[in-house]
Amino acid sequence: MTARACVIGWPVEHSRSPVIHGYWLKQYEIEGAYEKEAVRPEDLKSFLQQLWTHGYIGANVTLPHKEAALRAARSADEAAVTIGAANTLWLDPDGTLHASNTDAYGFMTNLDAEAPQWSEGLGAVLVLGAGGAARAVLYGLIKAGVPQILLANRTRARAETLAAAFGPRVQAVDWEARNEALGACGLLVNTTSLGMTGQPPLEIDLSAMPNSAVVADIVYVPLETPLLAAARARGLACVDGLGMLLYQAVPGFERWFGVRPEVTPDLKAHVKAHVMATLGDQ
Ligand code: ATR
Repeated sequence: MTARACVIGWPVEHSRSPVIHGYWLKQYEIEGAYEKEAVRPEDLKSFLQQLWTHGYIGANVTLPHKEAALRAARSADEAAVTIGAANTLWLDPDGTLHASNTDAYGFMTNLDAEAPQWSEGLGAVLVLGAGGAARAVLYGLIKAGVPQILLANRTRARAETLAAAFGPRVQAVDWEARNEALGACGLLVNTTSLGMTGQPPLEIDLSAMPNSAVVADIVYVPLETPLLAAARARGLACVDGLGMLLYQAVPGFERWFGVRPEVTPDLKAHVKAHVMATLGDQ
């Protein structure tokens, strides 16, 4: 039987997941399929209850369904529970729906791959933003043993709520204090939408960062954001957002199709070409 999975979103047209999973299905010559499913928020619960009837063994979940998907699942792993959102679902043979969140895995695996030295003499980490992506990044960094994380967000109250949820290793700092905070930081992570095509640039001065520091952006349109361009000009190691997107797809593909797929330069070039070709659709 052909194994089928899908990505569920509303809208779902913009999702890159079919490009990634389609590439791997072809590469590993797997008789499987990966579809897009546009599902309205009010229909999500019943769609997930009938996932098997719809012909699927699992799914990715994208905006705006990530929190509701977690609630709809019978079991969830620690990452999904702590992050408060699910992006990867699968049915076990008795029909139980399981939920995971692989965004933190994706971020950390990409960071390890692109800047393996990131944790040497690290000091603190500055994370910008306090949305769903920030939650995943904080979870990943804490799991990796980072002792001190500074969290800056335009709306300080959101940073404080998130810091409180993650415990004493995370401290909220003023958005206005971000440049100053960088002096103590070996890693900067942008999880805001600033710098994305169509959004304002992220205004930040990297001059206080140590020379060994790493700058990571989760924005991947454009691939080289103004933040990463500034980091490169300053001689700092850069980690772009596309790698996180590729790595977060790995555990789902393995779960549904039985092969642990590799993230290769060729896959990255393939997805990048697709992103560039479809920019006008955004
Ligand atoms: P996601 O779940 O993808 O992380 P989100 O919850 O919409 O998305 O969060 C977007 C982040 O970008 C937030 O941290 C947001 O700051 P606020 O909490 O103050 O809204 C940040 N952001 C968006 N536009 C911004 C801007 N012009 N200046 C500063 N931060 C901005």
